[in-house]
Amino acid sequence: MTVEPVPQGVPSTHENPYEKENMLDPFPLYERMRAREPVLWLEEVGVWAAFMDDACREVVNDWKRFGSAGGGGVANYYREKPWREPSVIFEADPPDHTRTRQVLSRILSPGTVRALTDQARELAKECVTRAMKMDRFDVVADLAKPFVMRVVPDAVGLPEENRENLLLYNKYLIKGRTYGRHNPWTEEELEESERIVEWVREVCKRESITSDGLGAQIYEAADAGDISVHEANMLIRSFLSAGTDTTFGAISNAVLFLLQDPSQWEMLRADPSLSRNAFDEGIRFRSPAQTVARNTLEEMEFHGVQMGKYDKIIAFVGSANRDPKRWKAPDKFDIHRKVVGHLGLGGGIHGCVGQMIARMEGDLLIGELARHAKMIDLADEPFQWSQSGRAVGKLPVVVS
Ligand code: HEM
Repeated sequence: MTVEPVPQGVPSTHENPYEKENMLDPFPLYERMRAREPVLWLEEVGVWAAFMDDACREVVNDWKRFGSAGGGGVANYYREKPWREPSVIFEADPPDHTRTRQVLSRILSPGTVRALTDQARELAKECVTRAMKMDRFDVVADLAKPFVMRVVPDAVGLPEENRENLLLYNKYLIKGRTYGRHNPWTEEELEESERIVEWVREVCKRESITSDGLGAQIYEAADAGDISVHEANMLIRSFLSAGTDTTFGAISNAVLFLLQDPSQWEMLRADPSLSRNAFDEGIRFRSPAQTVARNTLEEMEFHGVQMGKYDKIIAFVGSANRDPKRWKAPDKFDIHRKVVGHLGLGGGIHGCVGQMIARMEGDLLIGELARHAKMIDLADEPFQWSQSGRAVGKLPVVVS
């Protein structure tokens, strides 16, 4: 992979947040980086990076200076061909973004979320009851994943077969955002990713989804002329890919942090209505989205460095969420914390459009678990982070 050269006379570091060790435990690196300048150049990656809350917040919120059309990851679409067709919402700037975002915001009305909540509540009960019948279970594979892979995909009207392909798609999405089409992709991965991208395109077509779900409503917006039919297909793709492993990852993370500090788990069991805040605090503590990527839309000076037009800058929101200048005792997971304002769901015009759905899912499943699981404990077998370190990938627990 060709790395852009270090600009002259700017603060820079050879440390690489995308190295495996740092992905699995990014917090020591974040602390070192927050002790440095507000904006630095990552020599190994060839991009700018911000690690403190205030600089990250500016990058995330100021869409006039920091655009999204250059790609949602390290790969810079102004300087290299995108590895797949860019998202029409997540990787778009106004006025295109305004159009597509309005369609999703309208469809996700309070009425839609209420109806979804009623269905999801029953499902949460079913999933917890099934898991609790086992002596030991994996919170990710046996509880959070089966729940989340039903709520949003069912609401969209996606066929049930092969839904696991969505997760494979997300695996390639993360890889594509980090490395574009350069090494370390293997030939096999390149081939498989093409097949999966094609599967997603097909399954998001009008004829593949049910006629009474949220997906059909997105196509109705195309019929009304608000977006094109192609954009409708792409919007469903974004909706499905953004709303699956992020959410079951965040739920599993929150359960891990609760069990790692039994006093927090006991407080939740004593008052399960804290489940929504516990879920949100889990996202602040370790969000499945550790970064938000933008490109500069003009030459500018930003926190003392001179940046060129279309340079890539990564806001490490996972670090901002642990910034002691913004959060008291940031390294403590605390379900009573006033957690409003963290950046784990982004912010500004691109702030997560599915956040009320994610919060509803987290609230229901964690609340149900706290009400029904008298005692669950971490099993002897250790938990494991997923490959990208975004979330816990395996979380074995025992029921007593
Ligand atoms: C805990 C779970 C979730 C996390 C951590 C998360 C995180 C994020 C973040 C950080 C962004 C901002 C990206 C940026 O500014 O570049 C975002 C945007 C987005 N999210 Fe989520 N998300 C979650 C759940 C969901 C769900 C359930 C859905 C759909 C049902 C969803 C759909 C989207 C979409 C479509 C966008 C793009 C919005 C735009 O660009 O205007 N997300 N999400």
